[in-house]
This record gives sequence, structure tokens and C-alpha cells, in this order.
Amino acid sequence: MKHLLSIEDLSAADIHAMLELTDHMAEVSSRPIPKVPALRGKNVVSLFFEDSTRTRTSFDTAAKRLSADTMNFAVSSSSVNKGESLRDTIETITAMGVDAFVVRHKSSGAPQMITKWTNASIVNAGDGWHQHPTQALLDCYTIRTGLNRRDSFDGLRIAIVGDIKHSRVARSDVQAFAKLGAHVTLVAPPTLLPPSLEGWPVEVSHDLDALLPDLDVLYLLRVQRERMDDALLPSLAEYSALYGLTHARAARLAPHALVMHPGPMNRGVEIAVDPADLPGSVILQQVTNGVAVRMAVLFTLLGSGSVSSIGASA
Ligand code: NCD
Repeated sequence: MKHLLSIEDLSAADIHAMLELTDHMAEVSSRPIPKVPALRGKNVVSLFFEDSTRTRTSFDTAAKRLSADTMNFAVSSSSVNKGESLRDTIETITAMGVDAFVVRHKSSGAPQMITKWTNASIVNAGDGWHQHPTQALLDCYTIRTGLNRRDSFDGLRIAIVGDIKHSRVARSDVQAFAKLGAHVTLVAPPTLLPPSLEGWPVEVSHDLDALLPDLDVLYLLRVQRERMDDALLPSLAEYSALYGLTHARAARLAPHALVMHPGPMNRGVEIAVDPADLPGSVILQQVTNGVAVRMAVLFTLLGSGSVSSIGASA
């Protein structure tokens, strides 16, 4: 595997293998000195053309735990502001010696395009509305550990609620969850669903309350106001009343059910309760697992391939 661009490129077996490797990385992360020499001498450059808190720091932490060198390219203070093209930026940084670019871009397909301009590995850290594969992998890992489902997600009932239309997380998660065998229902107002769901392995519902007691996982999405150019919602208050997670709704969930959110959260909109008060919330666990999953991804793309080489502390 040279690049990680889309969940579409991975089979169920590939996903399982990545989650197995993540177990090793989680073990490294739990050590008093959470660092191994596996990627010593490799250079990982993050190139974020869109804002990010967790994804960027998560990749950075992951690369450092594997002893890679890291470079953060700050678009806001770069020659991109002087009109430098994406291609020239990539070719320039590549000339300094880069093993992997971690790329976030507002245009769908940008990471795929970049593979043509460099020999480095490309990891898609979110492209437009299209894909966010490491988010899907960390979500699978969180469900796998949270519900003790090591072998498959067969029979699991997962609802993804909210702004599906603009969500690369939803597109990636639907593919990954379905590949592992889960039954996925999308819950959203019609204006926040994609115009066509042809080929999506999902059911659709507009009635969250009816679904709640049967769910194993309630996955909430952020209402992505920065991506909406039309008035797709009458008001945020109405959205919250119909689709937000309130105390009353949380009480209708099964005791074992997990509540997930990729972050950042709009408190009071898609989530009206403090996640710290929800016994099933694994939202911070998702963040913790994100580092281990990204270690597994970087090791798969850049490492020697043998898990034994990640054993000893750096
Ligand atoms: C998501 C993203 O940027 O796609 N955030 C993340 O990476 N954790 C989701 C979002 O912005 O709503």
C-alpha cells in the first residue's frame, strides 16, 4: 500500500489488518515513554489547506511516536498567498526529501491529484465532501473496542445523524461500517441528505426517536454551516428539536449503546447534553484512538512491514 486516499480502496480484510496493527500502536501509546524507532529517518509533512484541531495534531503525534521527523506546512503564511500553485508547492517540498504528505484540502480529489506530482506517499486527511479515511478507521476501531466486536460488525445497528450531505466523515464511515457488516441508517432532514443515495449501502429515516432503542451506535455529525450556501435548515433550534441529542433521547438508548461524534461539536445544536454526562459517550476515546490508528497507517505506508520492528522503545 503506497497511499491512503479512500476507504473505497480497502477491503474488509485490509480494514481488519489495520485495526489489528492499531492494537499494537495503542499498546505503544500506553507505555510510560510512548515512542518507538520504527520510522526513524522518515520525513512526514502535513499540508492542511483547511482548518483542523484534532486531525492535524493527531497525525503529528502519531508520526512523533514512531520517531519520524515532522514538518508542518502553514498554508496561511506560505507562498500559496503569493499565488503559488498546489503543484509547485508539492514539487518544492518534495525536493527537500519527503516520505509522506498528510493532506487536507477543500477540493474533493486534491490528494489523488497530488500523487501525480511526487513520489512520496499521500494520506488523505479530508478532501472536500469526499473522504476522510483515517476518521473512518478510528471510528471502526472505537466501535470494535467499545462493543468488543473484533471479528465483524455483523448485525450491529448504527445510525449516522445530521448533515450527511456535506460530510466526508459520513461518506467514509458508511463504506467502512458496511464493509465490516453493520446495518447503517442515515437520519437527516431531506435537505441535508445527498441528492442521490444510489449505491449507498444504507437505509434512510427521518424519525430518530423511533430508532433510538434499537441502536448499538448513535453517530452524530456536526452541522457544517461553513459548507452551506443555501438556507438548508429553517433554524438551528428546529434542527436541535428534531435531531439533537437531548437528555430525553439519551435515556431512550440501550445501556450498551455508544454515542460518537467526529468533533468539533456544536454544543446545543447536534448535541444538547454534556457528553461527560453520557455513560455511552466515546467521543474522547475516538480522539485517543485517532493517534493509534494514524500510527498504524503511517507504519503501513512507510515502515518495514514487520510488526516486531515496533517492539522496543526509542
Ligand atoms: C471532521 C472533518 O473535518 O471532516 N472533523 C474531523 O476531522 N474530526 C468533521 C467536521 O468538521 O465536522
